[in-house]
Amino acid sequence: MEIKKIAIITAGGDAPGMNAAIRGVVRYGLAKKLEVMGVFRGWWGLINEELKSFDHRSVSGIINQGGTILKTARCPEFFTEEGKQRAFNTVKKYGIDALVVIGGNGSFGAAHAFYKSHGIPSMGIPASIDNDINGIDETIGWDTAINTALNAIDNIRDTATSMERVFVVEVMGRDCGLIALTVALAGGCEEVLIPERKFSIENICHEIVNGNLRGKISWILVVAEGTGKAEDISRQITELTTLETRQVVLGHIQRGGRPTAASRELALRLSKESIDCLLAGQINKVVGLCCNKIVAIPLETAIQKKEIDVEGMYHLIKTLT
Ligand code: F6P
Repeated sequence: MEIKKIAIITAGGDAPGMNAAIRGVVRYGLAKKLEVMGVFRGWWGLINEELKSFDHRSVSGIINQGGTILKTARCPEFFTEEGKQRAFNTVKKYGIDALVVIGGNGSFGAAHAFYKSHGIPSMGIPASIDNDINGIDETIGWDTAINTALNAIDNIRDTATSMERVFVVEVMGRDCGLIALTVALAGGCEEVLIPERKFSIENICHEIVNGNLRGKISWILVVAEGTGKAEDISRQITELTTLETRQVVLGHIQRGGRPTAASRELALRLSKESIDCLLAGQINKVVGLCCNKIVAIPLETAIQKKEIDVEGMYHLIKTLT
């Protein structure tokens, strides 16, 4: 099927670099003589007919901005029969041949479901701070988010060392501990608590008390949000060790901000690739870097659980502490 008109959707949690990806898809798409539309507020916009035609100027001045000019949403309604049918009606009404979906695994799951139910083809561009897309090295936004978290941890280390305290820092990652593991390793943190790995608060407290006896003066424990609340962990540490403990929740700070060069470069290269794939007749793929090469993998593969080397990273963190 010849692709003449595409619509771009940003869905799920926003990630820094999504705007660079929108810019890339619009301008490269126009250069390839495609008509390009932007859908507002994710799948909700397709259901509720919130979309408009984009030209070269529609994406001016956004390359350095975090978030998404298209806005985004979580849209459970899309997973209902009625939701998908209304989205299909919009696609047909505007003569859209394919969707370019910029998002994470929830968004790709929705794109896959839409193809199965209504035959609407998609091309996925992975953008999520979680870096949890299977089969690819890195999502757009990941580099920015981990550097934001790392800057915060570096700041915390200054005060933790000066005041000889224990800090518990909560980072994002409901189902995936990759942000926590990465910033704990890069930040030289003493402990990391992630959903993929059981932990014992008693053992951690024992280690803190023994470390302090050996003259260790400060501790930073990173906890992924899916594992527990920094507040609870910090309270338990104080109860079990009598040490003064402070907690910091980085939360949505990690989602915003100016995208790094790496996030932008990835966004722009993948946006070109997404259009080239569509024009070459490839559909229902996710474009991404794999071992530093640009690849296009099936949507079904991308939405599988990503394997991460939890034990390897955890043991390295502990060995280097
Ligand atoms: O998927 C990105 C992410 O930031 C996760 O790390 C986090 O668990 C979730 O989104 C938070 O979602 P919301 O902004 O809807 O609370």
